[in-house]
This record gives sequence, C-alpha cells and structure tokens, in this order.
Amino acid sequence: MIIEPRTRGFICLTAHPDGCATNVKEQIDHITSKGTFEGPKKVLVLGASTGFGLASRITAAFGTGAATLGVFFEKPPKEGKTSSPGWYNSAAFENEAHAAGLYAKSINGDAFSKEIKEKTLNTIKEDLGQVDLVVYSLAAPMRVHPETGVRHKSVLKPIGGVYENKTVDFHTGVVSDIKIEPCGEGDIENTVAVMGGEDWELWIDALMEADLLAPGAQTVAYSYIGPALTEPIYRKGTIGRAKDHLEATAGKLMQKMESLNGKAYVSVNKALVTQASSAIPVIPLYISLLFKIMKEKGIHEGCIEQMQRLFYDRMYNPDGLALDEAGRIRVDDWEMREDVQSQIAELWEQAETETLAEIGDLQGYKDEFFKLFGFHFDAVDYTADTNEMVAVPGLV
Ligand code: NAI
Ligand code: NA
Repeated sequence: MIIEPRTRGFICLTAHPDGCATNVKEQIDHITSKGTFEGPKKVLVLGASTGFGLASRITAAFGTGAATLGVFFEKPPKEGKTSSPGWYNSAAFENEAHAAGLYAKSINGDAFSKEIKEKTLNTIKEDLGQVDLVVYSLAAPMRVHPETGVRHKSVLKPIGGVYENKTVDFHTGVVSDIKIEPCGEGDIENTVAVMGGEDWELWIDALMEADLLAPGAQTVAYSYIGPALTEPIYRKGTIGRAKDHLEATAGKLMQKMESLNGKAYVSVNKALVTQASSAIPVIPLYISLLFKIMKEKGIHEGCIEQMQRLFYDRMYNPDGLALDEAGRIRVDDWEMREDVQSQIAELWEQAETETLAEIGDLQGYKDEFFKLFGFHFDAVDYTADTNEMVAVPGLV
C-alpha cells in the first residue's frame, strides 16, 4: 500500500516501515561512527521500541555487541493498516542486529503485568542465563496494577494552582495562551503509580529473586528536570512527583543490588521530541526554541546522541562516573547550560505565531515528529507501494 501520514491531535495514526527502518539505520550508523566501548553484554530494555529505550538498545547492541531482549507495547500491522512505529522500528532493529550476528529478541505486551514479567524472566533464563544491564524506559498513559487490578491513569497537570503560559500547535504553528487547571484528588497518586518507580522495583525484585542479574549488573531509568519555565507543568506538576518517586527508587534499588555488587541509576535526559513529550502542553514551544539555540551552538542532540554519551562517557566510562549532588547522571547538561537557558528565557517573551518560524525551530520540531513515524526521510520514496505486513523476526 501507499502509506501517508494521517494525524489526529498530537498523534500520527500511520507509520512507514521503510522510514522507520531508515531511522533505525541512521541511529546505528551514529553509534558505529563512534567506535566501540567496553560495556554490558546482555541487556534487558523495557520500553525498547521508540525514543530513549530504542536508542539505548541500539547503543548497547552496536556499541559493544550486546545481546538485547526488548519489551514494548506496540500494535502489529493488519492487512491495509500499518503498525505503530515501535513495531516497525523493532523489526528493523532485529534485522540489523541479526545480520550483525547479534542476539536480539522481543516481547510485545504490557510490561506492568505479571504475565509479561514471567515471559521475560523465562526468556532470559533459557537464552541468556543472566543480564548485566536493565534499562527502564517505559512511558505509558496508564497502568493496571498487578496486585490490586486498579487502572491508574497518569495526568500532566500543575499542583495547587492554575498554570497559565503559552504553547504552540506544532502542526499549524499557532502560538496561543493556555490555562491548565490544577490536578484533582487522586491525580498525583495515580500519576506516581504509572510513571513512578514501583514497577521498576518490581522488575528488579523479580529478576533478583530468580537470580537473573549478573554480578555487577546495573540498571538505569530516565528522568527529566527542565527549566523554571516549565516547572509548574513538569517538574513541580503531577509528572514531577512521579519522577521524584522514580529517583528515590534508584536509591532503594542501589541498596538492594549491593548484594550482587550492582548499581541503580537515574539519568536525567534532555527534552526531545518523542510521542510522550509531544502531548505535554508548553513543551513543544520550549523544544522548538531549545532546538534552534542548540543547533546554532552546535550542541544539538537527538535520542541516539544522548544515549551514546550516556553509555560511552558516563555509565561505562573507565575513568569513572560523575553524578550530581542528588546522585543522578546528567546528560541534560548541555540543555541546562546557562547560556542556552538565558537565551530561551529571552525568546520565550517574543514567541508569537508571527515570530516563531523565525526565532524557533518549528520546522525542525515537525520533521522530528514525523520522523518518529517514519516520515520526512529524504531517502524514502513515499509514493512507492510498500508492504505494511512486516514481521518482528525475534518476537517471543
Ligand atoms: P516513548 O513513548 O518514545 O517510549 C515509550 C516506550 O514504552 C515504548 O517502547 C513503548 O512501547 C513502551 N511502553 C509503553 N507502555 C508500555 C507497557 N504498558 N508495556 C510495555 N511497554 C510499554 O517515550 P520516551 O520519550 O523515550 O520516554 C522514555 C523515558 O524517558 C520516560 O521515563 C520519559 O519520562 C523519559 N524522558 C523523556 C524525555 C523526552 O523529552 N521525551 C526527556 C527526559 C526523560
Ligand atoms: Na523509550
């Protein structure tokens, strides 16, 4: 079929298999251009199909030849209907990994469930024996709690007061004022239940109980801080409470993993266009200004550049790992640079529908967004007939 982007609100309903494969190939090329690093050999990636999780998987596989087991929740294709992009990404990744002689298998299902945990544990037992790195990169709108059966929904809301600021509809370029009502009762708890550290801890507990973590194993989860500008909606909002919980969980896991000489970290990453972040008001406007400035300064990064620095320069740096005062890894260091942030604060005041195309990188935002779904790649012929029925070869 001929596959074109079809958008509804902040999401794109279609994905292009060849474009997703191109995206994966470009990320692999970035890693191989950096040479190899001495790193993990057997890696479990939770949330492996898009964003930071996919980039982590690619970095481990192609940077240090790691065997990777990926877990994700994606829609497979049907005749005449494309899959979600993470499915095509994973198919492309596995094809490339297998061609390079690397072990790569995937599990598609709800990582919050007992059933998927059990399936994952069994696969590790049978195929890998143990893993020496667990990447926790889930970003989900909801979680059914495995014990209580309660369906928790995460919300992106300020706490305690109305938040007023501006945002952009990146499809139209229209900048408008928005007013977001504060969260209601239960919103904080629910958001923490979905995006906090409880499920990460359940995974590590289950792996340790089954003796599937190798001596010296590490685990890392991803967080975000961002500038004062976005604090009410992000770091001091409901999602920020979940990130506080996630970060506290790292400390807890660090202690639990001491018995095997293991380590648990949170890495604070840069703001990027991903499916998750496109849905947060204010953030797209912030990112379009951030991209413009970071590109001008020659320090722009995408997911793969971030994960390359995280693995090569931080977690597996033979000279040691630098942490901030709260014990976190910081690869948002360039985003948070004083010169970058002061310029954004200035541009923020000027950002209007009329000025944004000039002062911000709206086109860059849009391109990145469509690339998430396999569109806007020069090398792909979007008028050509393509097969939507792509299989993930290593699906367990
Ligand atoms: P993403 O939306 O690109 O990836 C989410 C992954 O989780 C996908 O592989 C998806 O299939 C999987 N997933 C979702 N629900 C699942 C479920 N129930 N079971 C199994 N898999 C499931 O998200 P992104 O942006 O890469 O986020 C990953 C982490 O990085 C999150 O913790 C996010 O808060 C954090 N982060 C994101 C930043 C951004 O700007 N996008 C910045 C800094 C941190
Ligand atoms: Na991810």
